[in-house]
Amino acid sequence: IRRSMEEQGFIDIWTPSLTLGTPEGARDFLVPVRLQPGNFFALEQSPQLFKQALMIGGFDRYYQIATCWRDEDLRADRQFEFRQLDLELAFPTRDEVLDVLERVVVASFEALDLEPPERPFPRMSYAEAMLRYGSDKPDLRFGLDIQDGTEVTRSSQFKIFSSASIVRFLVVPQALSRGDLGKLEVIAKEWGAKGLAYLVYGPDGEVRSPIARFLSQTELGAFAAPPGSTVLFVADEVHVVERVLGALRLHLGRELGIVDDKRHVFHWILDFPLFQPDEETGRWTFVHHPFTGPLEGHEELIEEDPSNALSQHYDLIWNGWELGSGSIRIHRSDMQQRVFRAMGMTEEEAHAKFGWFLDALQMGAPPHGGFALGLDRFIALLAGEPNIREITAFPKVSSGSDPLTGAPSSVPAEQLRELGIRVLEEPQ
Ligand code: AMO
Ligand code: AMP
Repeated sequence: IRRSMEEQGFIDIWTPSLTLGTPEGARDFLVPVRLQPGNFFALEQSPQLFKQALMIGGFDRYYQIATCWRDEDLRADRQFEFRQLDLELAFPTRDEVLDVLERVVVASFEALDLEPPERPFPRMSYAEAMLRYGSDKPDLRFGLDIQDGTEVTRSSQFKIFSSASIVRFLVVPQALSRGDLGKLEVIAKEWGAKGLAYLVYGPDGEVRSPIARFLSQTELGAFAAPPGSTVLFVADEVHVVERVLGALRLHLGRELGIVDDKRHVFHWILDFPLFQPDEETGRWTFVHHPFTGPLEGHEELIEEDPSNALSQHYDLIWNGWELGSGSIRIHRSDMQQRVFRAMGMTEEEAHAKFGWFLDALQMGAPPHGGFALGLDRFIALLAGEPNIREITAFPKVSSGSDPLTGAPSSVPAEQLRELGIRVLEEPQ
């Protein structure tokens, strides 16, 4: 990786780990400061603003293998601390950034004597990924595409369809039994569905379904599937339909044994939305981080219609795992402030949190963009391991502890006093 980066003209620059939090969507790990009791550093969630500041300072190709810290629940693809191949370029087009990453991925495969994926990696828009796979990191090693039946069910006699804002379906190449359907319905409900309607096509093409008698010929024609298959429907608002059918698709892919483990599919997802509603506050918040540039032509939507504003964000996906993400950034202070405003931040709040950066943007910031590749995930996938813990030296377990040393631990009262800290909750 380092060789490829240096060959491509990037220079390795370290940035501080003790910093002011960068919003990457997780909680910060805080570090008390003995010289300033009551004040805290945040451990960096990523070098995002430092690398942007380096571009403003005149470096034009930066990279670093950076350790990042995020206080989030541990999962197969998440640890508290992890490494990123972090990079940034001045004056890049999106294609140039993607090209740098594709070269690094191919160089990594070659260094391991593995057959590298073919370049250029295929690309898909976020909208298409959500529609066809119900996920922004679809596993493309198998089909089972989701289809849309909203139009054809608008005036359905089956009220569950006609009253829902979206109706989508999956065609499963198997005539599922009552028992199978019952189990799938339980899974669908766990993911938030109200139910799972179905049409089962028997060996002679005959339909077995409690809802068939409510469907018109037009509807039955639109959902017709080959003998020996099942059509599964979810009717709901769009996010629920996407989430449930996306999860059922992955489940069925594994269950039916149609995921080809020997295939390696790398692909890009492009044109993500810029904003999403914040579930707690109801305000608009960023999808990735607030420094992502809007898609050209979408600048006015930031304040006029945030729900439809698309961004210049891109993700790299490998077999259904998000390997990394990046974007072309905002490089103008006024545009940056417009995004903060759309998120409901007052000018004072924006200056209190990011004043230094807004000032820096006024000092002739070049257009810039970059990426961060999660190295732990990359290595786990290269090694064929299902959990990044397996490729991490001294990993934390899911409770958040290090089983080797026993950390985290309580500290002596004297040490806390020095830091000006009082513990409210005794450790268990
Ligand atoms: P993002 O937050 O998407 O982007 O992170 C980039 C990549 O880092 C990896 N990653 C993790 N790996 C292990 N454990 C974690 N807890 C964890 N969190 C993230 C993932 C992810 O795709 N600054 C931006 C990038 C940019 O815009 O340039 C950023 O950090 O593989
Ligand atoms: P009911 O009228 O509740 O007996 O439902 C009839 C069928 O529709 C059952 O198979 C339910 O699982 C299914 N169903 C109920 N709600 C939904 C929904 N929102 N989306 C898809 N199927 C549903």
